[in-house]
Amino acid sequence: MPTELTLALTVNDEPVRRLVPAHRTLLELLREDLGLTGTKHGCDVGDCGACTVLMNGHPRLACITLAADCEGAVVETIEAVARGGDLHPVQAAFDHHVAAQCGYCTPGFIITLRQLFADNPNATEEELRHALGSNLCRCTGYTKILAAARDAQAVLQSRR
Ligand code: FES
Ligand code: FES
Repeated sequence: MPTELTLALTVNDEPVRRLVPAHRTLLELLREDLGLTGTKHGCDVGDCGACTVLMNGHPRLACITLAADCEGAVVETIEAVARGGDLHPVQAAFDHHVAAQCGYCTPGFIITLRQLFADNPNATEEELRHALGSNLCRCTGYTKILAAARDAQAVLQSRR
């Protein structure tokens, strides 16, 4: 078994090529090798959702994803969500509703919600809550997060 491998993938529209240890996680690659610290390191065992990124258009927990499994993948992190200095409607709604306190969970929530509304613009309340089931927040009590999510969904629907 090789102990290192050369990995090629796309991160936030940029090609990345790196020699990585075979046991390196995607989260370590993003935060430690690429300096993309917006993706948070929480539980490290796939329970909290703080490390959620998009991989090939689907939410993925970076802490339990081996970098080696990302060969050829397209990865998007929170750093790519605001474009040209403009907040994404989900980000703007979090700001408006003060839906972050410590903020540690926020990138994961925003990545999850952004993709939910891209895939399912008319997501029901049940679908919304189900999608957020793997994102934990210890501070807000979720009320403001859900209010922000509903507002962002309405803004995105009005743009269609
Ligand atoms: S840090 Fe990945 S799920 Fe908690
Ligand atoms: S705002 Fe602190 S964990 Fe969610």
